[in-house]
Parts: sequence; structure tokens; C-alpha cells
Amino acid sequence: MKTCKFQLLSLFGALMLLTSCGNNNGKNKSSGALNSSNAEKVYVAPGEHDEFYAFLSGGYSGNVTVYGLPSGRMFKEIPVFSQFPTSGYGYSEETKPMLETSHGFVPWDDSHHPEISLTNGELDGRWLFINGNNTPRIARISLTTFETEEIIEVPNSAGNHSSSFLTENSEYVVAGTRFSVPIPQRDMPINEYKGNFQGALSFISVDPEHGHMDIKFQIIMPGFNYDLSHPGRGKSHGWFFFTTYNTEEANSLQEVFASQNDKDFIAAINWKKVEEYVNNGGGTKVPAKYAHNVYDESTHTATSTMKKEVLTVNPLDVPGAVFFLPTPKSPHGCDVDPTGNYIIGNGKLSADLTVHSFDNMIAAIEGEKFDGEAYGIPILKFEDVLAGTVKSSGLGPLHTEFDGKGNAYTTFFITSEVVKWKLGTWEVIDRKPTYYSVGHLMIPGGNSRKPFGKYLVALNKITKDRYLPVGPETEHSAQLYDISGEKMELLSDFPTHGEPHYAAGIPTELLAPKAKKIYRLDENKHPYAVTSPDQARVERKGNEVHIYMSTIRSHFTPDNIEGVKVGDKVYFHITNHEQDFDVPHGFAMIGQNSSELLIMPGQTKSSLWEPKQVGVWPFYCTDFCSALHQEMQGYVRVSPAKSNIELSWSLGGD
Ligand code: CUA
Repeated sequence: MKTCKFQLLSLFGALMLLTSCGNNNGKNKSSGALNSSNAEKVYVAPGEHDEFYAFLSGGYSGNVTVYGLPSGRMFKEIPVFSQFPTSGYGYSEETKPMLETSHGFVPWDDSHHPEISLTNGELDGRWLFINGNNTPRIARISLTTFETEEIIEVPNSAGNHSSSFLTENSEYVVAGTRFSVPIPQRDMPINEYKGNFQGALSFISVDPEHGHMDIKFQIIMPGFNYDLSHPGRGKSHGWFFFTTYNTEEANSLQEVFASQNDKDFIAAINWKKVEEYVNNGGGTKVPAKYAHNVYDESTHTATSTMKKEVLTVNPLDVPGAVFFLPTPKSPHGCDVDPTGNYIIGNGKLSADLTVHSFDNMIAAIEGEKFDGEAYGIPILKFEDVLAGTVKSSGLGPLHTEFDGKGNAYTTFFITSEVVKWKLGTWEVIDRKPTYYSVGHLMIPGGNSRKPFGKYLVALNKITKDRYLPVGPETEHSAQLYDISGEKMELLSDFPTHGEPHYAAGIPTELLAPKAKKIYRLDENKHPYAVTSPDQARVERKGNEVHIYMSTIRSHFTPDNIEGVKVGDKVYFHITNHEQDFDVPHGFAMIGQNSSELLIMPGQTKSSLWEPKQVGVWPFYCTDFCSALHQEMQGYVRVSPAKSNIELSWSLGGD
């Protein structure tokens, strides 16, 4: 065992060296990586719009960023799992409930895989889903408001990595656990992992009307690591495929002990069969605590509900629903081509790419040609399900996307390149270096039935010398390739924010026309809204002071408030009366232990301030809203706790 361990460690050493010195030709500026026609291809003239939206996960920022392609211009950061002082998300009273979990308020996560909702396997542009990896959660973002509308926690899960991928009609958003854990969680020795820990694969239903999520069932699988997943499509609709690693069930030094088996598995799940089983009363309800947080656009307010049980399914109770496809070698990405026949396992310690065939899989299942079982789940024979192998394609394959023209594009982390190859013949057509060490790649619609195969974005892990140095930390680099021709062409680099593990792209015409411009004031159902300035007022309830405030260019109503005392909890409920596009107002109070607020036209947001010092304290608008923005300010008089100053408020001395 020792020798084996050291051999493996030295192999990793060699791989690390390859990573760090493989491609230092980024400095080779004179080689003309870009010619002028390539520059024109990414140039979007002032006032013109991009062809595609790209949603990049923010990784450890917990958020999502929105870019335009081909320009690489960043348009917005959408707060999802992290508090965001820029807008007040997670700080305002309305949005704090969005970040509630069974562990309490968790104002951060590690967002990984954005996915746009699908109808008939094609992008429909209604919602964007993304997983929180750390404290397992799935979020749904509206693609009309570009705001997070819903977050559901995933119990019995840890390292929510093989998520958030959607079935063909967004029937389910699927979340698979990276870490297997004791289910239910309990106090037990870690070294009793093997055979005792389990991995939950969660199928979360999505309401076709509102998008609301609910955990329909969790399949409780053997204690492997479930890495990535993708749905079947077309002929394989009704199935879902998950890569696994650590089929060794090691609980320590996984870089060695989880790399022993020559082959791990792709788990093939017939979710339609499981759904039918569950609809007929199958499965076991077990206690589980998880938060479900929903933002209501009409009240501009989120509520958090703690759920108490979840339906689990033992795969052995649903014969014919779960199979293992042997796949070399600690596979990472699990990608399904647009026809739904080819399932690509990207064996990250392998030099070759393994492509399985759905047709072969079905034939093998029907012929009951099994090669043993793992915890009672049948293992199919590798040779029986294999469609082909892409040979010598690179080293360290991670992820594959498709252009809809019969080609696949796979990223290779170790050899730092994107390789284009042909589905069916498995021949390599082209390869282009990335700068450096590419992880995911994204072609708009590139993992759906209908890819838009014009651009490819490589999401690189190492930036090094690509941009001006800014200290030890550099933003990750995305690279844009033109893939409309036979050979790929590198067009541009642009920096990203956080770590963009994955991205989702969609043509502009599917989103831009329905993007919301304002919230209608006459539809505002916030309980603390003031829909006309004469409703503005201040009310005391014990030590709570509620300030019903309105804003319009360029003043707050009221702007002078007296009668507040040290020890009070002061709630500013601010309604923005503007009804024009792009006229938010801000609100900031001195000494406030939260953030400023950015209030959109027609919206109400609330902010808590607990004054600790006697004095006359100013507040102001933080968003440059008019020529008189700097006049948009006011004062709160704070008196001693025992003072008997009457509550009063005014504007313009009235
Ligand atoms: Cu309102 Cu500046």
C-alpha cells in the first residue's frame, strides 16, 4: 500500500508540474493570438447590444454575474447566497429570510452550476437555477427581474455539487451530494464510513407556473461521491446520469485512496420509474430539517419556512430504476449530447474520454447482462455500454459541451486546452490552448437539445500573467472562442468575479424583451408601503419605531424626525415612488450595523437601525439620482432613553 501511495503521489507531482509550466506562451504577445478581424468579432459598438447573455457562477462569492457575449462586458452581479451591500440583499428586513437555513442565518455560499430552465429540452429563458455547494441549497432566479426568488435547502446532503441540472421540461431540478454522510446525521466514528455513509440524490419538483420548488424525493445511494450530473434528453428523457468517484469509500487522503479503482461509475437513474413508484405511495418519509425561502414580488418580501420531513427512496425497492455504468477513472463531468444517445464521462485521471451509448445501455439492461452489483445495484459491463473512446485527446478531461453540429468540445485541465472532436467517429478535429488550466466551458445551450454553437467560453482556473498584476489574488479569466468554423479561434480574454465554476448562456432575444424595467407602485402590496406621500408617517410600538417613508427626486418624505430614543429599534420602510426605468434611490443611515439599501422604482425596502448615541444623525440617498442627488438627505434626532420628546416628523418645515 505504501509504494502505491508514493507512486500515486509522484504522479500527482508530475501532473502539478504540467499544470504550472504547460503553457507559458501567454506572454508571447507578438505571436498575434489576436488579429484585427478577431478584434472586430468581439467589438460591440457604443450603444449596441450583445448577442448573448452569459450567467457566470461566482463560486466563493456565492453569487451570479451577468455578462454579454461577445463583448465580455459585465452587466450585473445578482446576489443569491451571499449578503450584498450593493443592493441591501440579505441586509434588508425583506431579504434576510432568503438566507435562513437549518443551521441558522448563513450569509454566504459557494455557488457552482447555473442552469437555465428548459421546455422540450430547449432553453426557455424563464428562470436560472444555481446550487450552493457548501450549505446545500438550490436557488431560483427570475429572468425577468434578475433577482433571486427562491432558495430551498437540501437535507441529507453535503457539498451539493452534482447540481443544479434540469430535466427536459424543468420537471425537476436535480441536486446530488458530493460528500456521503450518515443519513440521518448522527454521532459516529469517521472510520466507520464504509458501508455506513450514504449519498442522497434529490429530485426537486419545479412548479411549471411559478417555478416554486419542493423536494419530491431523495434516492439514498451507496456512500460514494456524486460529482456532476446531466439529464437524458430526447430518447433518454426520463433518465438522469451522475458521475461518481471514491467508489473506494475512503474517508481520508482521498487524493490517493479514492483513486485506487481503475473504474468508478456513472449512475444511471430512471427518474420516471422512481416518480411513478412515489406517486403510487412508495418511499419512506423521514424527519429532516430544511429551510424553504420564497420571495414574493408583489409584497417585495421573503418568508422562510422550516420543513420537517422528506421522502426517501431506497433504490433496491424500485427494480429497474438504478444502474451503474463503469467509467474510468474518477470521472468528473457527465455530459449528454443533444440527441440524448451519448453520455460522456470525463475521467479526470484518464488520457482518453469514455463515451457511453444510451441505446447500448438499454440493450444491456434488457438482456440483463450485468457484471456484479454494488450494494445491490446492478453494474453493467463496460464493453456493453461503451460507444467509443476519444483517444489521446489530452490529459485531465473535465467537461464537455456540444455545438449542435455533431461536434463536442472537451476541456482538459492538465494539458490546459479545449479539444474539439466528432461525435460518432471520435476523431479529434482541433485543439486550442487555454490560459490556463481550464475547468468548465460553456456554449450557449451547449448542454441542451438545441445548442447555439457560435461561441465557446473557457472558464480558466489560473490567470497568472494574463492581466496587470494586482497582488497575490487575481480574478479568474474567461476566454472567448469563435467556434463557427472548422477550427476554433481564440477571440478574447475577460476577467470574471469569484470563481466561475460554470456558466449558462442564452440568446439576447429570448431574455431582453421581457426584462422588467420598474415595479408598478399600484401593484405594491408591501404591508409597510406608502403609495402616496401623504401616507408617510412615523409610528411607535413600544421600543419599535416604524418610519413609513417615500422617496422621489430629490427628497425623502419625511426628512426630519424627532422623538427617537437610544435603545429604540428604528425601522425605515422606504417606498420609491419613481415609475421610470433605472431611477433607484438609495438609503444610508450613519452608524447602521447593516448596509445601505437600493430601492427600485415602485419597490419598498426596510432597514433596521438601532441608535446607540444621543445626537442628530443624518441619512442620505446613496444612488446618484438627479442633479439634486446631493440634496437628498435628512436628520433623525435621537434623545436619551428616558426623554419625553414627542414623536414628530416633517418635510419642508410642515
Ligand atoms: Cu435619490 Cu440620489
